[in-house]
Amino acid sequence: MVKTILLLAATASSTLIPGPWSNIHDSPTDRANALLKNMTQAEKISMLHGPATGDCCSCTTSASCAYVGNINPIARLGIPPTNMNDGPQGFRDNVHPGTTTAWPSGLTMAATWDVAAMQEWGIGMGKEFYAKGANVQLGPGLCLARVPRNGRNFEYLSGEDPFLGHTLVQPVITGIQSQKVIANAKHYAFNNQETNRGSVSEEVDERTRFEMYYPPFAGAINAGVGSIMCSYNKINGIWSCENPVTLKHDLKNYSGFKGYVMSDWGATHSTSIAKGLDVEMPQAHFMNSENITAGLKSKSIQQSDIDDSVQRILYAMFSVGVMDEPLSAWDWKKQSTNSTTEASVASARKLSGLSTVLLKNENETLPLLKNSQLKIAVIGFGGANAVVHGGGSGSVVASYTVKPIDAITDRAGKFATVTYNNGTDMTAASALAQDSDVAIVFVGTLSHEGGDRASLSLDDGCDPNIDPHSKQCQGNNANQNAMIDTIAGINSNTIVVASVPGAILMPWSTNPNITAILTNFLGGQQAGNAIADVLFGDVNPSGKLPITMPNKENEMEMSTEQWPGLPDPTNPMYAMYSEQLLVGYRYYEAKQIPFTTGFPFGHGLSYTTFKYTNLKIKKGFPLYQVSFDLENTGKVAGSEVTQLYLGFPAIVNEPPIQLKGFTKVTLDQGGRKTVTIELTEREMSIWDVVDHRFKAASGVFTVSVGASSRDLRLKGTITM
Ligand code: NOJ
Repeated sequence: MVKTILLLAATASSTLIPGPWSNIHDSPTDRANALLKNMTQAEKISMLHGPATGDCCSCTTSASCAYVGNINPIARLGIPPTNMNDGPQGFRDNVHPGTTTAWPSGLTMAATWDVAAMQEWGIGMGKEFYAKGANVQLGPGLCLARVPRNGRNFEYLSGEDPFLGHTLVQPVITGIQSQKVIANAKHYAFNNQETNRGSVSEEVDERTRFEMYYPPFAGAINAGVGSIMCSYNKINGIWSCENPVTLKHDLKNYSGFKGYVMSDWGATHSTSIAKGLDVEMPQAHFMNSENITAGLKSKSIQQSDIDDSVQRILYAMFSVGVMDEPLSAWDWKKQSTNSTTEASVASARKLSGLSTVLLKNENETLPLLKNSQLKIAVIGFGGANAVVHGGGSGSVVASYTVKPIDAITDRAGKFATVTYNNGTDMTAASALAQDSDVAIVFVGTLSHEGGDRASLSLDDGCDPNIDPHSKQCQGNNANQNAMIDTIAGINSNTIVVASVPGAILMPWSTNPNITAILTNFLGGQQAGNAIADVLFGDVNPSGKLPITMPNKENEMEMSTEQWPGLPDPTNPMYAMYSEQLLVGYRYYEAKQIPFTTGFPFGHGLSYTTFKYTNLKIKKGFPLYQVSFDLENTGKVAGSEVTQLYLGFPAIVNEPPIQLKGFTKVTLDQGGRKTVTIELTEREMSIWDVVDHRFKAASGVFTVSVGASSRDLRLKGTITM
């Protein structure tokens, strides 16, 4: 009796017809297996691709093209449609623009180094996908910023560090999936450049694959990610979506991924189900019934391949809860819902504040308004039209975008006069700067999917075709460095705010008249309010750089063989990962490059100061516990992202230091806390190419703790 009632309750709202798969108390694996057993071959194959016919993608005419991608439902069993939509920084709705929140981008969020913020972001986005009837979010993006000019770095939450990506992705996945939306970690793998992305072969050795590029995906798998997108590029000569080494072995067998692999749009080149691809998107050019049936006949495909792929899709749908929602939840007509809310917009503002990085703050220039009647000049197009998102599938059209000038004027209220000049007329802008106590220059640059940036200069990337919604490319924005120099030549209290998709060059950063520099990366629609919150001290900045800000172009001296790649007469265009582990700050450390105009990985200031003392290293559980005392020695409350870097025993030939732990600590003025960061065996391991697994290294490790990769305050050692 009790059992019957339970079963009824457990199936009440489910979309599925009742059967042995209905009990929500059974494991997702058991439920998926039970359902699989009841499917016909035609039903199974129909799940392995997008709709075979019809329009693609994003339409207003039918269920099978309403989203960026779909898998048709199976009515006989009540299996709901799979409704997939971009993208990694919120729901991209080109059909009903302005109905979703434009959140900060993935790289921007990485600047928070804050797991709670990441979870809030994931939940916030997941809610909007659900509201719009989508049950797969094509995000988050996890590739590593190997190439500073990669056009999609702004989408990727790993920055240039695998440990950072591994840690930050987990709360994002649990956040998105808590809303019954399957997350899709992308682009697996090595889609680290946009130049020639559809032909280049990324040549990456095994150790580099596992130590540098897989950890963010391993983090997603730890958090139970339901799907992973294979990328456009080739890997060691084989298309990513038909590469048995990276898909079957590295991802499914070694890393234990239980969900399904879908191809990027048009990245399928064969009926590659036996190689590890589960779903072809967006249509069915290869993974269709005809080809699969022929493959079964010729024995290039086994029935177990088909069953495994379908089981993975069903597993993801059960484990995230898609199957247990009423069918109405996934009604394509919900796509027109206005899903942005006051709460989501407030959260976007908070998250943009948390991801703003204060790079320089001389003489306590910031926060503003310590004296009243300040005359503030806001200069540059970015003051009214800040760059808040990138171009391509990672873009979101917000219903409105807050202009920094409006937010600053509102916040300044009667205590200050705020005057704006867009910088087109530099004579007028200079006169304004001359007559002001402080000049805030807003600059920015664009970036987009499908191409890498022309350079790291602020003066590049200004192509109006990239982003028709932004006015960034009008007026003086092709001369932003000159604009900064001119204003700083006139006003000795010049503040620069850079809204950028990743690394930029700041040749003016050491100018003593430039007293403060901030970057809010691509902060989404509320970046204007958030920057006002930071400038006036309502929010004390705590963001840290997830990438290195270089001193000059191509400072890592990448050859064209490394990037963008060279043609190979016998094979495709290739890009050699010959730098192996020396990506980003690892390279800067190995070559001991000093920072002059650039800023190191992990750097970010606060309006208060923190003192680190009393390092202790204890052997115990999990392996070592590193503890130290942190004290807020400044005048206001604030948060500090404390960072732990390990140096491996010389014999194993690792980069000089590597991030292996971090934690964000909030302290009141005068507050003090003992902080503990745990090291597991994995953090002290390297990839062994003989045994093909991570193995703990032995010898003497250096342990450094501090405020950035170049501001390490405490040092100790561990002998393993
Ligand atoms: C191609 C992009 O690479 C991918 O990130 C996106 O999700 C799909 N297009 C669908 O728009």
